[in-house]
Amino acid sequence: MALTQRPTVDESYWMATTAATDHPPLRSQTTADVAVIGGGIAGLVTAWELRRAGLDVVVLEADRIASGVTGYTTAKLTSLHGLHYAQLEARHGGESAALYALSQQDAVEHVAALCAELGIDADLERVPAFTFVEDPKRVDEVRAEADTARRAGLEATFVTDTELPFPVAGAVRVEGQLQFHPRTFLLGLAERFVRAGGRIHERTRVTGLRDGRRCHLTTESGATVDASDTVIATHYPVFDRTLLFTRLRPRRELVLAAPVPTADAPEGMYLSPESGTRSLRSAPYDEGRRLVILTGESFEPGAGGVRERYARLEAWADERIAGFAAAEKTYRWAAQDNDSHDHLPYVGHAHPGTQHLYVATGFGGWGMSNGVMAGRLLMAHIAGGPRPPWTELYDPRRLPAVRDTAELATFQAGVAKHFVGDRLHTSHVDSVEEVAPGSGAVVRVGGKHCAVYRDASGEVRSLSARCTHLGCLVQFNDAERTWECPCHGSRFATDGSVLHGPATRPLEEL
Ligand SMILES: Cc1cc2nc3c(=O)[nH]c(=O)nc-3n(C[C@H](O)[C@H](O)[C@H](O)COP(=O)(O)OP(=O)(O)OC[C@H]3O[C@@H](n4cnc5c(N)ncnc54)[C@H](O)[C@@H]3O)c2cc1C
Ligand code: FES
Repeated sequence: MALTQRPTVDESYWMATTAATDHPPLRSQTTADVAVIGGGIAGLVTAWELRRAGLDVVVLEADRIASGVTGYTTAKLTSLHGLHYAQLEARHGGESAALYALSQQDAVEHVAALCAELGIDADLERVPAFTFVEDPKRVDEVRAEADTARRAGLEATFVTDTELPFPVAGAVRVEGQLQFHPRTFLLGLAERFVRAGGRIHERTRVTGLRDGRRCHLTTESGATVDASDTVIATHYPVFDRTLLFTRLRPRRELVLAAPVPTADAPEGMYLSPESGTRSLRSAPYDEGRRLVILTGESFEPGAGGVRERYARLEAWADERIAGFAAAEKTYRWAAQDNDSHDHLPYVGHAHPGTQHLYVATGFGGWGMSNGVMAGRLLMAHIAGGPRPPWTELYDPRRLPAVRDTAELATFQAGVAKHFVGDRLHTSHVDSVEEVAPGSGAVVRVGGKHCAVYRDASGEVRSLSARCTHLGCLVQFNDAERTWECPCHGSRFATDGSVLHGPATRPLEEL
Protein backbone atom coordinates (compact mmCIF):
# COMPACT_ATOMS: atom_id res chain seq x y z
CA MET A 1 0.00 0.00 0.00
CA ALA A 2 1.37 3.42 -0.87
CA LEU A 3 2.11 5.77 2.00
CA THR A 4 -0.47 8.26 0.83
CA GLN A 5 -3.32 5.71 1.02
CA ARG A 6 -3.38 5.44 4.80
CA PRO A 7 -3.31 8.12 7.47
CA THR A 8 0.19 9.45 8.04
CA VAL A 9 1.29 11.18 11.21
CA ASP A 10 4.10 13.55 10.24
CA GLU A 11 5.72 13.47 13.65
CA SER A 12 8.21 11.35 15.51
CA TYR A 13 6.55 8.71 17.67
CA TRP A 14 8.74 9.79 20.61
CA MET A 15 7.57 13.39 20.31
CA ALA A 16 3.94 12.37 19.78
CA THR A 17 3.85 10.23 22.94
CA THR A 18 5.44 12.60 25.48
CA ALA A 19 4.36 15.86 27.03
CA ALA A 20 5.80 19.15 25.79
CA THR A 21 8.30 20.86 28.08
CA ASP A 22 8.18 24.46 29.23
CA HIS A 23 11.38 25.62 30.91
CA PRO A 24 11.66 29.43 31.16
CA PRO A 25 13.85 31.36 28.71
CA LEU A 26 16.90 33.09 30.18
CA ARG A 27 15.98 36.77 30.55
CA SER A 28 18.86 38.32 32.47
CA GLN A 29 22.55 38.02 33.21
CA THR A 30 23.63 34.93 35.14
CA THR A 31 26.72 32.95 36.19
CA ALA A 32 27.41 29.23 36.48
CA ASP A 33 30.24 26.78 36.93
CA VAL A 34 29.32 25.21 33.60
CA ALA A 35 27.11 26.36 30.71
CA VAL A 36 25.91 23.56 28.45
CA ILE A 37 24.72 24.76 25.03
CA GLY A 38 22.15 22.34 23.60
CA GLY A 39 19.66 20.08 25.36
CA GLY A 40 19.86 16.87 23.31
CA ILE A 41 21.13 13.58 24.70
CA ALA A 42 24.75 14.80 24.76
CA GLY A 43 23.92 18.08 26.53
CA LEU A 44 21.45 16.65 29.03
CA VAL A 45 23.61 13.70 30.07
CA THR A 46 26.61 16.03 30.41
CA ALA A 47 24.54 18.42 32.53
CA TRP A 48 23.27 15.61 34.73
CA GLU A 49 26.73 14.12 35.30
CA LEU A 50 28.22 17.52 36.16
CA ARG A 51 25.39 18.41 38.53
CA ARG A 52 25.80 15.07 40.24
CA ALA A 53 29.49 15.90 40.65
CA GLY A 54 28.38 18.99 42.60
CA LEU A 55 28.76 21.73 39.96
CA ASP A 56 26.34 24.59 39.28
CA VAL A 57 25.14 23.87 35.73
CA VAL A 58 22.92 25.83 33.34
CA VAL A 59 21.55 24.31 30.10
CA LEU A 60 20.76 26.76 27.27
CA GLU A 61 18.50 25.28 24.61
CA ALA A 62 17.51 27.17 21.46
CA ASP A 63 14.20 25.33 21.14
CA ARG A 64 12.88 22.60 23.48
CA ILE A 65 15.01 19.97 25.20
CA ALA A 66 15.17 16.46 23.65
CA SER A 67 13.49 17.71 20.51
CA GLY A 68 16.49 18.11 18.19
CA VAL A 69 17.90 15.00 16.49
CA THR A 70 17.42 13.19 19.80
CA GLY A 71 13.63 13.52 19.51
CA TYR A 72 13.76 12.02 16.00
CA THR A 73 16.16 9.12 16.49
CA THR A 74 15.37 5.38 16.50
CA ALA A 75 16.93 4.99 19.97
CA LYS A 76 18.90 1.78 19.66
CA LEU A 77 21.39 1.89 22.49
CA THR A 78 24.06 -0.49 21.36
CA SER A 79 27.78 -0.99 21.00
CA LEU A 80 27.33 -2.75 17.63
CA HIS A 81 27.40 -0.03 14.99
CA GLY A 82 26.86 -1.60 11.58
CA LEU A 83 30.25 -2.61 10.15
CA HIS A 84 32.16 -0.11 12.30
CA TYR A 85 34.71 -2.34 14.02
CA ALA A 86 36.32 -3.60 10.81
CA GLN A 87 36.61 0.03 9.69
CA LEU A 88 38.06 1.16 13.04
CA GLU A 89 40.58 -1.67 13.30
CA ALA A 90 41.78 -1.10 9.73
CA ARG A 91 42.17 2.62 10.27
CA HIS A 92 43.15 3.07 13.92
CA GLY A 93 44.35 -0.40 15.01
CA GLY A 94 42.96 -3.07 17.33
CA GLU A 95 43.61 -1.15 20.54
CA SER A 96 41.45 1.79 19.40
CA ALA A 97 38.68 -0.57 18.28
CA ALA A 98 38.80 -2.20 21.74
CA LEU A 99 38.61 1.20 23.50
CA TYR A 100 35.67 2.18 21.29
CA ALA A 101 33.85 -1.06 22.20
CA LEU A 102 34.56 -0.57 25.90
CA SER A 103 33.34 3.04 25.91
CA GLN A 104 30.14 2.21 24.02
CA GLN A 105 29.23 -0.75 26.23
CA ASP A 106 29.98 1.42 29.27
CA ALA A 107 27.39 3.92 27.97
CA VAL A 108 24.80 1.17 27.41
CA GLU A 109 25.23 -0.08 30.97
CA HIS A 110 25.25 3.46 32.36
CA VAL A 111 21.76 4.16 30.97
CA ALA A 112 20.47 0.88 32.46
CA ALA A 113 22.02 1.81 35.82
CA LEU A 114 20.62 5.38 35.73
CA CYS A 115 17.09 4.19 34.93
CA ALA A 116 17.25 1.68 37.79
CA GLU A 117 18.76 4.14 40.28
CA LEU A 118 16.51 7.09 39.42
CA GLY A 119 13.35 5.06 38.83
CA ILE A 120 12.90 6.24 35.21
CA ASP A 121 10.56 3.99 33.22
CA ALA A 122 11.86 4.47 29.66
CA ASP A 123 10.55 1.23 28.09
CA LEU A 124 14.06 -0.20 28.43
CA GLU A 125 14.33 -3.62 26.75
CA ARG A 126 17.41 -5.88 26.70
CA VAL A 127 17.69 -7.40 23.24
CA PRO A 128 20.46 -8.61 20.91
CA ALA A 129 21.69 -6.30 18.14
CA PHE A 130 22.38 -7.57 14.61
CA THR A 131 24.13 -6.31 11.48
CA PHE A 132 22.81 -8.42 8.59
CA VAL A 133 23.07 -8.78 4.82
CA GLU A 134 20.66 -10.46 2.42
CA ASP A 135 23.13 -10.59 -0.47
CA PRO A 136 25.38 -13.71 -0.23
CA LYS A 137 28.18 -11.71 -1.89
CA ARG A 138 28.44 -9.53 1.24
CA VAL A 139 28.61 -12.35 3.79
CA ASP A 140 32.39 -11.99 4.14
CA GLU A 141 31.90 -8.41 5.36
CA VAL A 142 29.65 -9.42 8.25
CA ARG A 143 31.83 -12.41 9.07
CA ALA A 144 34.84 -10.07 9.28
CA GLU A 145 32.83 -7.66 11.45
CA ALA A 146 31.90 -10.47 13.85
CA ASP A 147 35.59 -11.42 14.15
CA THR A 148 36.76 -7.82 14.66
CA ALA A 149 34.01 -6.97 17.15
CA ARG A 150 34.88 -10.10 19.14
CA ARG A 151 38.58 -9.16 19.11
CA ALA A 152 37.51 -5.70 20.34
CA GLY A 153 35.87 -7.36 23.35
CA LEU A 154 32.17 -7.60 22.40
CA GLU A 155 30.15 -10.78 22.78
CA ALA A 156 29.83 -11.05 19.00
CA THR A 157 29.05 -14.12 16.90
CA PHE A 158 28.45 -14.79 13.20
CA VAL A 159 24.97 -16.27 12.63
CA THR A 160 22.72 -17.15 9.71
CA ASP A 161 19.51 -17.31 11.76
CA THR A 162 17.82 -14.22 13.19
CA GLU A 163 14.34 -13.34 14.43
CA LEU A 164 13.65 -11.48 11.19
CA PRO A 165 10.67 -12.79 9.19
CA PHE A 166 12.81 -13.08 6.03
CA PRO A 167 16.03 -14.98 5.30
CA VAL A 168 19.42 -13.33 5.68
CA ALA A 169 22.68 -14.49 4.14
CA GLY A 170 24.61 -13.77 7.34
CA ALA A 171 24.65 -11.53 10.41
CA VAL A 172 26.74 -10.37 13.36
CA ARG A 173 24.90 -10.86 16.66
CA VAL A 174 25.85 -9.04 19.88
CA GLU A 175 24.06 -9.90 23.12
CA GLY A 176 22.87 -7.65 25.91
CA GLN A 177 22.04 -4.41 24.08
CA LEU A 178 19.21 -1.97 24.87
CA GLN A 179 16.33 -0.23 23.11
CA PHE A 180 14.37 2.50 24.84
CA HIS A 181 12.11 5.55 24.59
CA PRO A 182 14.68 8.38 24.33
CA ARG A 183 12.39 11.20 25.44
CA THR A 184 10.95 9.41 28.45
CA PHE A 185 14.50 8.76 29.55
CA LEU A 186 15.75 12.30 28.94
CA LEU A 187 12.71 14.16 30.26
CA GLY A 188 12.98 12.02 33.41
CA LEU A 189 16.66 12.90 33.68
CA ALA A 190 15.96 16.61 33.07
CA GLU A 191 13.30 16.64 35.78
CA ARG A 192 15.71 15.13 38.30
CA PHE A 193 18.45 17.54 37.16
CA VAL A 194 16.22 20.53 37.92
CA ARG A 195 15.11 18.98 41.22
CA ALA A 196 18.80 18.63 42.12
CA GLY A 197 19.35 22.38 41.54
CA GLY A 198 20.29 22.40 37.84
CA ARG A 199 18.83 25.10 35.56
CA ILE A 200 17.34 24.66 32.10
CA HIS A 201 16.42 27.57 29.84
CA GLU A 202 14.50 26.76 26.67
CA ARG A 203 13.90 29.14 23.77
CA THR A 204 17.36 30.50 24.60
CA ARG A 205 19.57 30.45 21.53
CA VAL A 206 23.24 31.21 22.15
CA THR A 207 24.46 33.59 19.46
CA GLY A 208 27.87 34.63 20.77
CA LEU A 209 30.67 32.97 22.75
CA ARG A 210 34.03 34.25 24.01
CA ASP A 211 36.29 31.79 25.77
CA GLY A 212 39.36 32.58 27.82
CA ARG A 213 39.98 32.16 31.53
CA ARG A 214 36.18 32.34 31.78
CA CYS A 215 33.55 31.94 29.08
CA HIS A 216 31.09 34.68 28.18
CA LEU A 217 27.95 33.66 26.31
CA THR A 218 25.43 35.95 24.64
CA THR A 219 21.92 34.85 23.75
CA GLU A 220 19.45 36.01 21.13
CA SER A 221 17.43 37.98 23.71
CA GLY A 222 20.53 39.79 24.97
CA ALA A 223 20.75 37.82 28.23
CA THR A 224 24.29 36.64 29.06
CA VAL A 225 26.01 33.85 30.97
CA ASP A 226 29.48 33.93 32.55
CA ALA A 227 30.72 30.42 33.18
CA SER A 228 33.99 28.80 34.21
CA ASP A 229 33.52 26.10 31.57
CA THR A 230 31.27 25.72 28.53
CA VAL A 231 30.18 22.65 26.59
CA ILE A 232 29.02 22.97 22.98
CA ALA A 233 26.50 20.14 22.55
CA THR A 234 24.58 21.65 19.65
CA HIS A 235 24.91 18.57 17.42
CA TYR A 236 26.61 20.39 14.52
CA PRO A 237 29.12 22.56 16.41
CA VAL A 238 28.45 26.27 16.54
CA PHE A 239 31.32 28.67 17.46
CA ASP A 240 33.68 26.33 15.69
CA ARG A 241 37.14 27.94 15.90
CA THR A 242 39.00 24.82 14.79
CA LEU A 243 36.74 24.46 11.75
CA LEU A 244 35.58 21.04 12.85
CA PHE A 245 32.85 21.42 10.27
CA THR A 246 35.46 20.75 7.59
CA ARG A 247 35.80 17.29 9.12
CA LEU A 248 32.07 16.59 9.50
CA ARG A 249 29.62 15.43 6.87
CA PRO A 250 25.86 15.74 7.60
CA ARG A 251 23.75 12.78 6.53
CA ARG A 252 19.96 12.82 6.57
CA GLU A 253 17.81 9.73 7.13
CA LEU A 254 14.11 8.97 6.92
CA VAL A 255 12.06 7.02 9.44
CA LEU A 256 8.77 5.14 9.01
CA ALA A 257 6.93 3.46 11.86
CA ALA A 258 3.70 1.44 11.97
CA PRO A 259 1.88 -0.59 14.62
CA VAL A 260 1.75 -4.31 13.77
CA PRO A 261 0.48 -7.38 15.68
CA THR A 262 3.08 -8.34 18.30
CA ALA A 263 3.70 -11.68 16.58
CA ASP A 264 4.80 -9.82 13.39
CA ALA A 265 7.32 -7.56 15.15
CA PRO A 266 10.85 -9.02 15.00
CA GLU A 267 12.63 -9.27 18.34
CA GLY A 268 15.98 -7.51 18.47
CA MET A 269 17.58 -4.52 16.73
CA TYR A 270 18.74 -4.84 13.15
CA LEU A 271 20.83 -2.91 10.68
CA SER A 272 21.78 -3.69 7.10
CA PRO A 273 24.29 -1.67 5.08
CA GLU A 274 22.36 -2.67 1.94
CA SER A 275 19.81 -0.52 0.02
CA GLY A 276 21.34 2.71 1.37
CA THR A 277 21.02 1.39 4.95
CA ARG A 278 18.02 -0.27 6.56
CA SER A 279 17.66 -0.16 10.34
CA LEU A 280 14.85 -1.88 12.21
CA ARG A 281 13.58 -2.22 15.76
CA SER A 282 10.23 -2.35 17.51
CA ALA A 283 8.79 -0.60 20.56
CA PRO A 284 5.85 -1.21 22.91
CA TYR A 285 2.65 0.25 21.38
CA ASP A 286 -0.61 -1.06 22.85
CA GLU A 287 -2.21 -4.30 23.97
CA GLY A 288 -1.40 -6.88 21.28
CA ARG A 289 0.65 -4.56 19.04
CA ARG A 290 4.20 -3.25 18.75
CA LEU A 291 5.46 -0.34 16.70
CA VAL A 292 7.91 -1.42 13.98
CA ILE A 293 10.38 1.42 13.35
CA LEU A 294 12.35 1.46 10.13
CA THR A 295 15.12 3.91 9.13
CA GLY A 296 17.11 4.29 5.95
CA GLU A 297 17.70 6.10 2.68
CA SER A 298 20.75 8.09 3.83
CA PHE A 299 21.25 11.19 1.73
CA GLU A 300 22.99 14.56 1.68
CA PRO A 301 20.70 17.30 3.08
CA GLY A 302 19.18 19.23 0.21
CA ALA A 303 19.63 16.35 -2.27
CA GLY A 304 15.86 16.18 -2.81
CA GLY A 305 13.74 13.20 -3.87
CA VAL A 306 12.38 12.79 -0.33
CA ARG A 307 8.95 11.48 -1.43
CA GLU A 308 10.55 8.80 -3.61
CA ARG A 309 12.86 7.81 -0.76
CA TYR A 310 9.91 7.39 1.63
CA ALA A 311 8.16 5.24 -0.99
CA ARG A 312 11.24 2.98 -1.35
CA LEU A 313 11.49 2.59 2.41
CA GLU A 314 7.85 1.70 2.68
CA ALA A 315 8.02 -0.82 -0.16
CA TRP A 316 10.95 -2.51 1.60
CA ALA A 317 8.92 -2.86 4.83
CA ASP A 318 5.72 -3.94 3.05
CA GLU A 319 7.61 -6.75 1.32
CA ARG A 320 9.31 -8.03 4.42
CA ILE A 321 7.20 -7.33 7.52
CA ALA A 322 3.76 -8.96 7.63
CA GLY A 323 1.30 -6.48 9.08
CA PHE A 324 3.22 -3.35 7.96
CA ALA A 325 1.21 -2.86 4.75
CA ALA A 326 -2.07 -3.45 6.61
CA ALA A 327 -1.23 -1.08 9.48
CA GLU A 328 -3.94 1.49 10.28
CA LYS A 329 -1.50 4.40 10.14
CA THR A 330 2.14 5.31 9.64
CA TYR A 331 4.35 7.71 11.54
CA ARG A 332 7.07 9.29 9.45
CA TRP A 333 9.83 11.67 10.34
CA ALA A 334 13.38 12.58 9.34
CA ALA A 335 16.57 13.79 10.99
CA GLN A 336 20.27 14.08 10.33
CA ASP A 337 23.51 13.14 11.99
CA ASN A 338 27.16 14.00 11.35
CA ASP A 339 29.83 11.58 10.23
CA SER A 340 33.35 12.49 11.31
CA HIS A 341 36.21 12.19 8.84
CA ASP A 342 37.88 9.31 10.70
CA HIS A 343 34.80 7.49 12.03
CA LEU A 344 35.33 8.62 15.64
CA PRO A 345 33.32 11.29 17.50
CA TYR A 346 34.92 14.54 18.67
CA VAL A 347 34.51 14.85 22.44
CA GLY A 348 36.81 17.01 24.57
CA HIS A 349 38.58 20.39 24.35
CA ALA A 350 37.11 22.39 21.46
CA HIS A 351 40.42 23.77 20.22
CA PRO A 352 44.14 23.61 21.09
CA GLY A 353 44.17 27.04 22.76
CA THR A 354 41.39 26.41 25.28
CA GLN A 355 41.24 25.00 28.77
CA HIS A 356 37.56 25.73 29.33
CA LEU A 357 35.62 25.16 26.12
CA TYR A 358 34.48 21.65 25.21
CA VAL A 359 32.59 20.09 22.31
CA ALA A 360 30.69 16.84 21.65
CA THR A 361 29.83 16.00 18.05
CA GLY A 362 30.41 13.63 15.11
CA PHE A 363 28.39 10.70 16.44
CA GLY A 364 28.06 9.09 12.99
CA GLY A 365 24.46 7.91 13.47
CA TRP A 366 25.20 6.43 16.92
CA GLY A 367 24.55 9.31 19.30
CA MET A 368 22.53 7.31 21.83
CA SER A 369 25.62 5.52 23.12
CA ASN A 370 28.04 8.25 22.00
CA GLY A 371 25.95 11.03 23.58
CA VAL A 372 26.06 9.20 26.92
CA MET A 373 29.76 8.42 26.47
CA ALA A 374 30.30 12.15 25.79
CA GLY A 375 28.47 13.16 28.96
CA ARG A 376 30.60 10.87 31.10
CA LEU A 377 33.85 11.87 29.42
CA LEU A 378 33.15 15.62 29.68
CA MET A 379 32.26 15.20 33.35
CA ALA A 380 35.72 13.65 33.91
CA HIS A 381 37.35 16.55 31.99
CA ILE A 382 35.50 19.32 33.84
CA ALA A 383 34.84 17.95 37.34
CA GLY A 384 38.25 16.29 37.57
CA GLY A 385 39.06 12.82 38.80
CA PRO A 386 40.28 9.86 36.76
CA ARG A 387 39.85 10.15 33.00
CA PRO A 388 38.60 7.08 31.17
CA PRO A 389 41.14 5.20 29.00
CA TRP A 390 39.35 6.39 25.82
CA THR A 391 39.94 10.11 26.52
CA GLU A 392 42.56 10.55 23.78
CA LEU A 393 40.65 8.44 21.28
CA TYR A 394 37.92 11.09 21.09
CA ASP A 395 40.07 14.23 21.49
CA PRO A 396 38.82 16.81 18.92
CA ARG A 397 42.33 18.26 18.74
CA ARG A 398 43.64 15.12 17.05
CA LEU A 399 45.15 16.02 13.71
CA PRO A 400 43.99 14.33 10.55
CA ALA A 401 46.59 11.74 9.49
CA VAL A 402 48.43 12.47 6.24
CA ARG A 403 46.54 9.61 4.58
CA ASP A 404 43.26 11.35 5.58
CA THR A 405 44.02 14.26 3.27
CA ALA A 406 42.41 12.63 0.24
CA GLU A 407 39.30 11.72 2.24
CA LEU A 408 39.01 15.22 3.71
CA ALA A 409 39.29 16.60 0.21
CA THR A 410 36.37 14.35 -0.82
CA PHE A 411 34.42 15.48 2.26
CA GLN A 412 34.92 19.07 1.26
CA ALA A 413 34.51 18.46 -2.47
CA GLY A 414 30.77 18.14 -1.93
CA VAL A 415 30.77 21.45 -0.07
CA ALA A 416 32.97 23.11 -2.70
CA LYS A 417 30.65 21.82 -5.41
CA HIS A 418 27.73 23.57 -3.73
CA PHE A 419 29.68 26.78 -3.05
CA VAL A 420 30.90 27.10 -6.61
CA GLY A 421 28.09 25.35 -8.48
CA ASP A 422 25.28 27.09 -6.61
CA ARG A 423 26.82 30.47 -7.23
CA LEU A 424 27.23 29.79 -10.91
CA HIS A 425 23.90 28.36 -11.92
CA THR A 426 21.14 28.27 -9.36
CA SER A 427 17.90 29.71 -10.58
CA HIS A 428 15.61 26.89 -9.76
CA VAL A 429 12.52 28.57 -11.21
CA ASP A 430 12.36 31.69 -13.32
CA SER A 431 9.66 33.63 -11.54
CA VAL A 432 7.75 33.80 -8.27
CA GLU A 433 4.54 32.94 -10.19
CA GLU A 434 5.94 29.47 -10.91
CA VAL A 435 6.08 28.57 -7.19
CA ALA A 436 3.02 26.39 -6.53
CA PRO A 437 0.94 26.71 -3.30
CA GLY A 438 2.46 24.63 -0.48
CA SER A 439 5.90 24.58 -2.08
CA GLY A 440 9.10 26.60 -2.30
CA ALA A 441 11.87 27.31 -4.80
CA VAL A 442 14.91 29.48 -5.25
CA VAL A 443 14.15 32.36 -7.61
CA ARG A 444 16.63 34.91 -8.94
CA VAL A 445 15.18 38.39 -8.54
CA GLY A 446 17.25 41.44 -9.44
CA GLY A 447 20.49 39.41 -9.19
CA LYS A 448 19.59 38.15 -5.69
CA HIS A 449 18.83 34.53 -4.85
CA CYS A 450 15.49 34.48 -3.04
CA ALA A 451 14.07 31.50 -1.17
CA VAL A 452 10.39 31.86 -2.02
CA TYR A 453 7.68 29.91 -0.21
CA ARG A 454 4.01 30.08 -1.16
CA ASP A 455 1.62 28.77 1.54
CA ALA A 456 -1.61 26.87 0.85
CA SER A 457 -3.62 30.14 0.77
CA GLY A 458 -1.27 31.55 -1.89
CA GLU A 459 0.58 34.01 0.32
CA VAL A 460 4.26 34.38 -0.59
CA ARG A 461 7.21 34.69 1.81
CA SER A 462 10.57 35.67 0.37
CA LEU A 463 13.86 35.21 2.20
CA SER A 464 17.49 35.37 1.18
CA ALA A 465 18.50 31.95 -0.15
CA ARG A 466 22.02 32.41 1.28
CA CYS A 467 22.59 30.16 4.28
CA THR A 468 23.64 32.31 7.24
CA HIS A 469 26.42 29.88 8.16
CA LEU A 470 28.83 30.35 5.24
CA GLY A 471 26.66 31.42 2.38
CA CYS A 472 25.77 28.31 0.35
CA LEU A 473 22.36 28.39 -1.31
CA VAL A 474 19.54 26.64 0.52
CA GLN A 475 17.17 24.26 -1.26
CA PHE A 476 13.54 23.45 -0.57
CA ASN A 477 12.55 20.08 0.92
CA ASP A 478 8.99 19.63 -0.27
CA ALA A 479 8.23 16.62 1.96
CA GLU A 480 9.14 18.46 5.17
CA ARG A 481 8.50 22.04 3.99
CA THR A 482 11.87 23.29 5.13
CA TRP A 483 14.83 25.07 3.58
CA GLU A 484 18.00 22.95 3.76
CA CYS A 485 21.61 23.84 3.18
CA PRO A 486 23.54 21.15 1.29
CA CYS A 487 26.94 22.36 2.57
CA HIS A 488 26.86 21.59 6.29
CA GLY A 489 23.24 20.66 6.87
CA SER A 490 21.69 23.81 8.40
CA ARG A 491 17.89 23.76 8.18
CA PHE A 492 15.43 26.64 8.28
CA ALA A 493 11.63 26.88 8.66
CA THR A 494 9.63 28.64 5.94
CA ASP A 495 9.69 31.80 8.09
CA GLY A 496 13.50 31.62 8.02
CA SER A 497 14.06 30.62 11.66
CA VAL A 498 16.87 28.16 12.35
CA LEU A 499 15.76 24.56 12.88
CA HIS A 500 19.22 23.03 12.84
CA GLY A 501 22.76 24.45 13.00
CA PRO A 502 25.56 25.17 12.40
CA ALA A 503 23.74 28.36 11.33
CA THR A 504 22.70 30.43 14.34
CA ARG A 505 20.97 33.30 12.52
CA PRO A 506 17.69 33.13 10.57
CA LEU A 507 17.55 33.55 6.78
CA GLU A 508 17.40 37.22 6.01
CA GLU A 509 13.92 38.58 5.20
CA LEU A 510 13.70 40.14 1.74
C1 LIG B 1 17.06 8.99 11.65
C2 LIG B 1 18.10 8.79 12.71
C3 LIG B 1 18.07 7.63 13.49
C4 LIG B 1 19.03 7.45 14.48
N1 LIG B 1 19.01 6.31 15.22
C5 LIG B 1 19.95 6.11 16.16
C6 LIG B 1 19.96 4.92 16.94
O1 LIG B 1 19.11 4.04 16.77
N2 LIG B 1 20.95 4.77 17.86
C7 LIG B 1 21.92 5.71 18.04
O2 LIG B 1 22.81 5.51 18.86
N3 LIG B 1 21.89 6.88 17.37
C8 LIG B 1 20.95 7.09 16.43
N4 LIG B 1 20.94 8.25 15.72
C9 LIG B 1 21.88 9.30 16.07
C10 LIG B 1 21.43 10.07 17.30
O3 LIG B 1 20.03 10.23 17.30
C11 LIG B 1 22.11 11.43 17.35
O4 LIG B 1 23.50 11.24 17.18
C12 LIG B 1 21.88 12.13 18.67
O5 LIG B 1 20.50 12.23 18.94
C13 LIG B 1 22.52 13.52 18.65
O6 LIG B 1 22.31 14.10 19.90
P1 LIG B 1 22.86 15.54 20.21
O7 LIG B 1 22.59 15.83 21.64
O8 LIG B 1 24.26 15.66 19.72
O9 LIG B 1 22.02 16.51 19.23
P2 LIG B 1 20.53 17.09 19.34
O10 LIG B 1 19.59 16.11 19.90
O11 LIG B 1 20.21 17.65 17.99
O12 LIG B 1 20.68 18.26 20.40
C14 LIG B 1 21.33 19.47 20.08
C15 LIG B 1 20.50 20.60 20.65
O13 LIG B 1 21.23 21.82 20.53
C16 LIG B 1 20.31 22.86 20.31
N5 LIG B 1 21.03 23.99 19.72
C17 LIG B 1 21.57 24.09 18.48
N6 LIG B 1 22.15 25.30 18.31
C18 LIG B 1 21.97 25.99 19.48
C19 LIG B 1 22.35 27.27 19.94
N7 LIG B 1 23.02 28.13 19.16
N8 LIG B 1 22.00 27.64 21.20
C20 LIG B 1 21.32 26.78 22.03
N9 LIG B 1 20.95 25.53 21.63
C21 LIG B 1 21.27 25.13 20.38
C22 LIG B 1 19.29 22.23 19.35
O14 LIG B 1 18.07 22.95 19.38
C23 LIG B 1 19.18 20.82 19.90
O15 LIG B 1 18.11 20.67 20.79
C24 LIG B 1 20.02 8.44 14.71
C25 LIG B 1 20.05 9.59 13.93
C26 LIG B 1 19.11 9.77 12.93
C27 LIG B 1 19.18 11.00 12.10
S1 FES C 1 25.43 25.01 6.69
FE1 FES C 1 27.38 25.78 6.20
S2 FES C 1 26.97 27.12 4.55
FE2 FES C 1 25.03 26.36 5.09
